[in-house]
Amino acid sequence: MCGIVAYVGPKQAQPLLLEGLKRLEYRGYDSSGVAVVGDNNLKIARAKGRISVLETKLNDLGGLQGSLGIAHTRWATHGVPNETNAHPHRDDTETIALVHNGIIENYTALRTYLEKKGHKFYSDTDTEVLAQLIGELHNGGLDLESAVQAGLREVTGAYAIAVVSVKEPGTLVVARKGSPLIIGLGDKSYIAASDASAIIAHTTQVIALEDYHVAKLTAGDDGPEMRTTTIDNVEVSPDILDLEMSLEQIELDGYAHFMLKEIMEQPQSLTDTLRGRIDKREGRVVLGGLNTLARDLVRARRIILTGQGTAWHACLVGEYLLEDLAKVTAEVEYASEFRYRNPIVEDGTIVIAVSQSGETADTLAALHEAKERGATALGVVNAVGSSISRETDAGVYLRVGPEIGVASTKAFTGQMTVLTMLALFIGRRKYLANDVITKYLEELDRMPEHIARILEQSDYIKDETKKVVDRDNWLFLGRGYNYPVALEGALKLKEISYIHAEGMPAAEMKHGPIALVDDGMPVVFVAPKGSQYDKVVNNIEEIRARGGRIIAVADEDDTQIEQYAETVFRIPHVPEPLQPLISVVPLQLLAYHAAVLRGHDVDKPRNLAKSVTVE
Ligand code: AGP
Ligand code: GLU
Repeated sequence: MCGIVAYVGPKQAQPLLLEGLKRLEYRGYDSSGVAVVGDNNLKIARAKGRISVLETKLNDLGGLQGSLGIAHTRWATHGVPNETNAHPHRDDTETIALVHNGIIENYTALRTYLEKKGHKFYSDTDTEVLAQLIGELHNGGLDLESAVQAGLREVTGAYAIAVVSVKEPGTLVVARKGSPLIIGLGDKSYIAASDASAIIAHTTQVIALEDYHVAKLTAGDDGPEMRTTTIDNVEVSPDILDLEMSLEQIELDGYAHFMLKEIMEQPQSLTDTLRGRIDKREGRVVLGGLNTLARDLVRARRIILTGQGTAWHACLVGEYLLEDLAKVTAEVEYASEFRYRNPIVEDGTIVIAVSQSGETADTLAALHEAKERGATALGVVNAVGSSISRETDAGVYLRVGPEIGVASTKAFTGQMTVLTMLALFIGRRKYLANDVITKYLEELDRMPEHIARILEQSDYIKDETKKVVDRDNWLFLGRGYNYPVALEGALKLKEISYIHAEGMPAAEMKHGPIALVDDGMPVVFVAPKGSQYDKVVNNIEEIRARGGRIIAVADEDDTQIEQYAETVFRIPHVPEPLQPLISVVPLQLLAYHAAVLRGHDVDKPRNLAKSVTVE
């Protein structure tokens, strides 16, 4: 995801900034930019796409001269990826420049306030509001450090920022809340960045800024100086840490693979997906991107969900959610089938395209087909400004950050979280009582902590996986909301461990597939307590009677399941509609450990691409 690099010291800033941005490329981004303060001037260069595009632009400009600068790789949340929305952003007097990681949640109110004061905005981002606000305070007489402190006291949301001013050519101000920022202590300089990979080439001595802390970094003739305070200007003295990690390790934050990192990130990514969108007090879901379509959604006679692969599994969960909570007819279509099937799309039909990349060719084509036939189109997408997100009439971004591992994990839980919120958004406007909504929102809010608890079982899951990893044929079974989770568990295992696995409704195995069951065949049951639990137990017994080895995903307080299962992965009990959000997590870890135990390239499995942009 996005990245920040900032430098103040005796050397030319531009080369160091670009080198740092390249170290951060692995985080994924859609555009980039640099600002340098030279002799009484502030120069900015920005570009959409790869950093190489920015480098070409800088070469065409003859480079930016100066020893103070900031740089950014953007992962867009507000405003499509283009040069205008790329960072650094500036105030309208071109006095300050600022780069930002995170989301300014109250940017709309602040923008209205600043526009009323006559400020002219040029971008669609939330970030520009912060640049204009700090510029207003700085031009109103505050020094840069005080202007940053005062500005940050007005914002809500998450930020890591670096700010420079043409009025203070030797001063770099950085701050953070909710997004990481560390400061490298050079011999005569400071280099700040989103993570250590952009710093370790210069120093191993760093300070990790804490939330609500601001650092003023100067590098004058008498050497570098740092002043660290809270946003209320209370001085603090942070600890100096010694970086021990190698670059390779740092880029993965110490994880062995991006897939494991992204599985482990899910408490945070779900928090980001939910942030600012659930109002428990009012019992409301706030999906700003859907306001223009709220009436269409409430009046919808049919909702078609479409996608491929993991996104298609999320669509299946969405179907259950929409019919259960929003009482609207829903159906799921493989995008690749829908686009060629001459589908009937009558009035009142809404099509929801679900896609992490927003670039899957079949899903995009299905969307076009549905729109041509008069459907209203919604997107549930991760990549801001992607083709699918641009083609829909409205949508909701996942906000899980870039997903680098080919096997989708945090995007899947993000998609299901958005679809749950969508079902509640519609249900609230139809038949769902306030107290029911509030109950679901309170449970949704606890999902990150539930997932964190499940993730603690990773070593146990690895040990249990080891016992059956040599088996080449598995079944994954579930019922109701957990049937799509069984499909997803099978797909995860297939695509990274190359073990053949088949998912299906638990009842379906009696209609043929049970013939596959031989002695010791691993059969995974997704079996949290719910309306069909007793039926699932019957299915477990049917498999056991034929020699299958049972692996069950079950509630923490389920004392019955041990009688039937050799292995039990425990999850907290939650209402059935929310079970997929957590019941999939043990299966993600199972697939990951199986792939590692089999010695495969987990992040780049054979024959697979992260985004299938061809038919
Ligand atoms: C997920 O693990 C797979 N890599 C794949 O099925 C993926 O979900 C599918 O290609 C859809 O991609 P999208 O979400 O980017 O549209
Ligand atoms: N929310 C800001 C934007 O969309 C920053 C995104 C990021 O962290 O890169 O521009």
